[in-house]
Amino acid sequence: MSQEKLSGQKLTDEIIAGLLQEQPAISPKFFYDEIGSHLFEAITFLEEYYPTRTEKQIMAQYGEAMALTIGKCDVLLDLGAGNCEKGSALFDTLLPKEYRALDISKEFLEQAISGLQKEFPQIQMQAQTCDLHEEMAFPDLVGRKKTFFYPGSSIGNFDPDAALGLFKNIVKVCQGDGGLLIGVDLVKGHEVLSRAYNDSLGITAAFNKNILLHLNRLVKTDFNLEYWEHYAIFNEQLARIEMYLRSTRSQLVSFPGGERRFDSGAFIHTENSYKYTQEKFESLLMSAGFKAVHSWTDSNCYFLVAYATA
Ligand code: AVI
Repeated sequence: MSQEKLSGQKLTDEIIAGLLQEQPAISPKFFYDEIGSHLFEAITFLEEYYPTRTEKQIMAQYGEAMALTIGKCDVLLDLGAGNCEKGSALFDTLLPKEYRALDISKEFLEQAISGLQKEFPQIQMQAQTCDLHEEMAFPDLVGRKKTFFYPGSSIGNFDPDAALGLFKNIVKVCQGDGGLLIGVDLVKGHEVLSRAYNDSLGITAAFNKNILLHLNRLVKTDFNLEYWEHYAIFNEQLARIEMYLRSTRSQLVSFPGGERRFDSGAFIHTENSYKYTQEKFESLLMSAGFKAVHSWTDSNCYFLVAYATA
């Protein structure tokens, strides 16, 4: 994520307001500085973190069926494309004429795309900056069939209301043609979920704590990482993993223009990762206005890939 994008007074105000809340919070978008992006990539290789490899298995096993369900694909819009690896894995089955990679940082996408373009010269490619919490519009793509792709259960990091808002936006942009291919993590036993967010190597803990280093650079807070520990728990009622940083002592954290005391045991909320049942997820898609949903899952029913027709 670019430092430019994450700079400026608006951002500073947002971060400080979050730290001063009764329940202090930092938005998960601040996880993904350079180190954080690498740590997340490392998480996806962990034995405990099943979502990435399970989604990959489902895509490999049912790729042809998905392509048949989706049909013709004029433009493939890859939401939160990152290194474009997952999106480009669909080129051989969906045969898009155009690939549009969307993410918060355009420069990272442009690097990924320049490599891909040589491999797939027949596909027109473009990188576009996009914040999925804001309204999307693609005036240059009106009249062309669009397939949106949102893998990795990134939708789980949205509250269900915000997820509904994103789905409605996609339905609107599709104008009765195309749809959304999306991966989502399913509700399952506590132990599996807890292990996935409390791995034995401590990579998730490092990913969580790194957000404080990012803030120290961005807004000149003076968080001392030695006094914070990773805490992740499954909230069964809300069907979500909640991640926090817990203060290991009473401490004062300062930032330009102010400070906040954190007692020993105080929490800063950093992320929610919602898990859905198949029924709940399909009905969320339908209530956004999609006309039909096809779903594919793995033998453990750990993860779901769904195609929602607009
Ligand atoms: C990016 N997102 C889907 C991950 C998740 O599982 O919610 C982020 C993550 N947080 C801790 N581990 C992975």
